[in-house]
Amino acid sequence: MSGDFEPKIVAYLCNWCTYLAADLAGTNRLEYPANVRIVRLPCTGRIDFNLIIKAFEMGADAVLVSGCHPGDCHYTAGNYHARRRWILFRELLDVMGIDLNRIHFAWISAAESKKFQQLMSDMTSRIREMGPYTGYREIAGIEP
Ligand code: FES
Repeated sequence: MSGDFEPKIVAYLCNWCTYLAADLAGTNRLEYPANVRIVRLPCTGRIDFNLIIKAFEMGADAVLVSGCHPGDCHYTAGNYHARRRWILFRELLDVMGIDLNRIHFAWISAAESKKFQQLMSDMTSRIREMGPYTGYREIAGIEP
């Protein structure tokens, strides 16, 4: 892939954990690629199929959904709902022809700024190698 390509990664982050980990990474001056566009959710339980599709529609090359570890959800079970919903989404997205390698789910607590930094660096490198996600535009019939 061209060395000029810089992926756009939309990260839907839970307000109570991964968003705080991203904030802590900033406070601790842990550098991570500027490719990530963070969207703060009250909980990963808020994630739905349309939010993932919307990110691709707006030109994302990959999507991250990250929240509290199982058992630590601020709303008790939102992350379990997200995990169950993901099992359903995955099949539907697959049937639609969406490249599932461009969607990543993670659990990152407020204290795990280093893990957030590492994930963003790894994900950016991986998507950079994969190249722009032109597949969604073809599926959706969007002109290049
Ligand atoms: Fe973080 Fe529910 S509050 S996943």
